[in-house]
Amino acid sequence: MPDQNKFPHFMLKEIFEQPQALKNTIAPRISLQDVEVRIGNEIRIIPAELRSMRRINIVASGTSRHAGMAGQYMFQELVHIFADVDYASEFEYRNPPIGPEELTISITQSGETADTMAAQRLARQKGSRTIAISNVVNSTVATEADGVLYTHAGPEISIASTKAFTAQMAVLFLLAAYMAQGRESIPKDALRTWLDELTALPEKADVVLQCSDTCRQLADNFHRFEDFLFLGRAIHYPIAMDGALKLKEVSYVHAEGYPAGETKHGPNALIDATLPIVMIATCDHKDPGSVLRYEKSVADMRGFKKQSARIIALASEGDTAVSAIADHTIFIPRAPELLAPILEMIPLQLFAYHFAVRKGLDVDRPRNLVKSVTQE
Ligand code: AGP
Repeated sequence: MPDQNKFPHFMLKEIFEQPQALKNTIAPRISLQDVEVRIGNEIRIIPAELRSMRRINIVASGTSRHAGMAGQYMFQELVHIFADVDYASEFEYRNPPIGPEELTISITQSGETADTMAAQRLARQKGSRTIAISNVVNSTVATEADGVLYTHAGPEISIASTKAFTAQMAVLFLLAAYMAQGRESIPKDALRTWLDELTALPEKADVVLQCSDTCRQLADNFHRFEDFLFLGRAIHYPIAMDGALKLKEVSYVHAEGYPAGETKHGPNALIDATLPIVMIATCDHKDPGSVLRYEKSVADMRGFKKQSARIIALASEGDTAVSAIADHTIFIPRAPELLAPILEMIPLQLFAYHFAVRKGLDVDRPRNLVKSVTQE
């Protein structure tokens, strides 16, 4: 078994390994000089066939499904292709009408999750081409797929998935960029900018890790609360979902991830001083859509404060508007809308980790959970 290398828990060690995991996952697959993503030999589907795909289906469970939800935005934005995401465990019940000219992507850290395996097998039976994203080399899901893209995150021991998740999002971005490159759905200059931004991620992740002490203090402040609401819009919504899942699984407190725009449709009734809100309110000022969503999130936060809610916000570096409203703000280095989620996840992992430690729980082996669910 790999050692914990001076970290008190594997979860913390794995959170801190993210800059390296991202580097290992991204760097060998891109050429900045030739402005190219190079994954053709890994996915083993000929470029002409990949270009003819009309639709993408993503199947996964738990945290891996949250990565898939982020991937949905990447494929639609960069490749302009319809992408759907399903719980692997629900996929077969929907009798999905899929077939040739469709690509099914299975995302799984372990590559042994029974539901994901079954969903991939069903997609293959129906004639879909398949690509697996797995962290474990030669896992069953990886072996059975047409092609495989490995997340080079290294072994993940803690039951709560951390570094595999951010590496999965990086791989999904690489695949979307590769498909966009093949279909010429983004200009070369734009691709150059994306690849530069992707290359900058590991260093930015290193910067985010410096907020660990702040997250510990927040966990100290909030450890008596039993319910949390995590909110985000668009591609930040899956991050809210995974922030809530992390807190649930390691701290045994009730946490819900919700799309921020949905609060007015029900959850607002619960929002008061007893329900802390974790609000993802970063902004990519170069992206008008992101600015619009950010403004809505700021307006939401003002409303929540009127209802006496306590807010922990994630904001882009230098954003004073968010910190003026929120009770606590964690700043994230600026990054484009499609890549910021990879950085946003880190403080949420740290918050969950310190919360569980504060409660004296077995962080790496939460009760009733296993690392890989191998039975349906
Ligand atoms: C993540 O923190 C969980 N422990 C769990 O949701 C996990 O992501 C899920 O069981 C899927 O596992 P897989 O990625 O190995 O398929």
